[in-house]
Amino acid sequence: MEFLEDTVISSIRDCAKLNNGLEMPWLGFGVFLVEPGKETELAVKRALDAGYRSIDTAAIYENEAGVGKAIQESGIPREDLFITTKLWNADQGYASALKAFDESMEKLQIEVLDLYLIHWPVVGRYVDSWKAMEKLYKDGRVKAIGLSNFQIHHIQDILEISEVVPTVNQVEFHPRLRQVDLHNFCNENQIQLQAWAPLMQGKALDIPELVKLGEKHGKSPAQILIRWDLQLQVLTIPKSITPHRIVENCQVFDFELNDEEMALIASLNRDERVGPDPDNFDF
Ligand SMILES: NC(=O)c1ccc[n+]([C@@H]2O[C@H](COP(=O)([O-])OP(=O)(O)OC[C@H]3O[C@@H](n4cnc5c(N)ncnc54)[C@H](OP(=O)(O)O)[C@@H]3O)[C@@H](O)[C@H]2O)c1
Repeated sequence: MEFLEDTVISSIRDCAKLNNGLEMPWLGFGVFLVEPGKETELAVKRALDAGYRSIDTAAIYENEAGVGKAIQESGIPREDLFITTKLWNADQGYASALKAFDESMEKLQIEVLDLYLIHWPVVGRYVDSWKAMEKLYKDGRVKAIGLSNFQIHHIQDILEISEVVPTVNQVEFHPRLRQVDLHNFCNENQIQLQAWAPLMQGKALDIPELVKLGEKHGKSPAQILIRWDLQLQVLTIPKSITPHRIVENCQVFDFELNDEEMALIASLNRDERVGPDPDNFDF
């Protein structure tokens, strides 16, 4: 059976099946730049109330403890939640990655993590980091391991040495950065693509074509973008701290973009990033 062949995405509870069989909600909630403490706790609480079950944090966001508190207080059974966090660059390497994982888990207050990602491909260290991820996976401390901001050549390095194929690659992805080659490569290797900055951190929301499509469907440009990701079978994790936007961003299951509209959005590509270039970063 082909990867992604029998995919149905019609509600916030629908899940992608990762290459190890683990189910992960297509639509999740991102918490980059959400203040640690109360702001994170409140945003995650609102997201859970709205129906999101997948939360995307990272050690470097410094808000894992807020995520942990919100999920503890929600009363939602742990098995209904999907928690992702990421190994920060300074902690890459075998022993340091294992230690960083323990620190993240302590802050999140959970026994087993759903998905652990290498945040950036730090040259000279991501292979050792992957070995640590594999150990955590084999020890049952995490249900899936994956990558973030990995280009094709970085993934090839991992595939050469890996015993466990990465499940997910989380990258900057929006209509101004369509990433066709990377997307195809990931699909061919059964690595599920995930979009960060699906709204281009707000910068895509006034693109006239998206505004027009929104008017046509009675939806906001943000909803058009989230729907576009889902129909491309790309996991997506829009972030908002604004209560009505948190709700708005998950009201994307009552309309459909046709082939022409999907192609129109893809045609907006300019290979333009809002974040760092994974082949040229210095942090
Ligand atoms: N792996 C990585 O390297 C990496 C890098 C960046 C992000 N991420 C992950 O991806 C998630 C999403 O990316 P992102 O946070 O960078 O950007 P994003 O989700 O594309 O955009 C977030 C921005 O859009 C605004 N917004 C959200 N919904 C809106 C709506 N319906 N209408 C108008 N404006 C809206 C938010 O404002 P308000 O909050 O003020 O409402 C915020 O300023 C992150 O939170 C993080 O979990 C990962």
